[in-house]
Amino acid sequence: MKRIGIILNGVTGRMGTNQHLIRSILAIIKQGGVKISDELTLMPDPILTGRNETKLRELAERVGLTKYSTNLEAVLADPAYEIFFDASGTLQRAKFVEMAVAAGKAVYCEKPTAVETSEALRLATLCEDAGLKNGVVQDKLWLPGIRKFKLLRDQGFFGRILSVRGEFGYWVFTGEHEGQPAQRPSWNYRKEDGGGIIVDMLCHWRYVIDNLFGPVKSVSCSGATHLPHRLDEKGKPYACTADDACYATIETNNGIVCQFNSSWTVRVRRDDLFTMQVDGTQGSAIVGLRKCWAQSLGTTPRPTWNPDIDQPINFFDGWQEVPDATTYDNAFKIQWEEFLKHVALDTPFPWTLREGAKGVQLAELGLQSWEQRKWLDVPEMR
Ligand SMILES: NC(=O)c1ccc[n+]([C@@H]2O[C@H](COP(=O)([O-])OP(=O)(O)OC[C@H]3O[C@@H](n4cnc5c(N)ncnc54)[C@H](O)[C@@H]3O)[C@@H](O)[C@H]2O)c1
Repeated sequence: MKRIGIILNGVTGRMGTNQHLIRSILAIIKQGGVKISDELTLMPDPILTGRNETKLRELAERVGLTKYSTNLEAVLADPAYEIFFDASGTLQRAKFVEMAVAAGKAVYCEKPTAVETSEALRLATLCEDAGLKNGVVQDKLWLPGIRKFKLLRDQGFFGRILSVRGEFGYWVFTGEHEGQPAQRPSWNYRKEDGGGIIVDMLCHWRYVIDNLFGPVKSVSCSGATHLPHRLDEKGKPYACTADDACYATIETNNGIVCQFNSSWTVRVRRDDLFTMQVDGTQGSAIVGLRKCWAQSLGTTPRPTWNPDIDQPINFFDGWQEVPDATTYDNAFKIQWEEFLKHVALDTPFPWTLREGAKGVQLAELGLQSWEQRKWLDVPEMR
């Protein structure tokens, strides 16, 4: 058994508590660690760090942990911890990554690593120059729906892929109506606090497109702040200074046209909060978070346009669900296990801060495209 000390910083928040602490680290401990061989198992040993002692204590007690601290400097100085993880707010990230690098820790963090490309690259370089292992969360790559899509793609199901339509979003309540509290943190809607759906979601769409369809070549993006005010966590009204909807078209260098709508101001009438339709010459798929439905050329119905009669074809019937063919673990947990192996055994881990910076680049160019109202090339990043 090899113990791996992990500093979990800023995990009293939404992502930190649920996905990283409970669904990943605690789940790994509960399953008996990451088994490498009969002789070797990697066992996480977490300590929670943050600003608010009460919140940390309550969280630690809730999940049955004993170690927490508000003194990050002291914890970083402790050689018992070799990994530093950060899920604090985006604008806090740089300071924490710098501290972790100075302490010689392996660095793993939530996306985006910054809101500007130059800053994201600076942090990547900082880790690289110090010779430290590093990674950024790219969780969507391990969603069951995406894994099922990849299986179809790798088996040649689609023929030549032509286009992709991603639809992400749901209604995020403003908090202004009795009985309908907001279900996302208020900083998401304030630009000055690192908010905005373009910064948030184009990071994801970058690695999804790069990995599934081909390297991103250019972007055209329009955004909107559809709702100008909301109520914060204390019930106080605030002005929304960041975009709450994003309408982006992204081209790959192999000619695939990808449209991704992302919105916190839409109501859902589709299979999931995120669905992605992929159309190819030989087949198509609808990819959800967990499920994936496919239709081949041979089973494609033959509609004719006639608005004078009710639609005779039930289009939903023409799709076949891709069955579960293996067990699908939590996406964040899978990436954590990969990072633990990378740190302990030097196995490959391509989802680095440098890769993460590409997401920030697409977001930054998306914002510029919106502002300038034009297509922008996405320069290759090294
Ligand atoms: N991978 C994904 O799908 C995904 C989804 C949502 C958010 N995120 C990212 O995760 C990060 C956190 O988002 P969230 O939705 O959990 O937000 P949140 O507001 O719920 O959590 C942020 C946490 O950071 C803490 N924090 C803020 N400033 C701090 C400081 N100076 N020192 C220590 N802790 C501090 C807060 O107390 C809170 O616990 C963001 O960077 C966001 O972009 C990723």
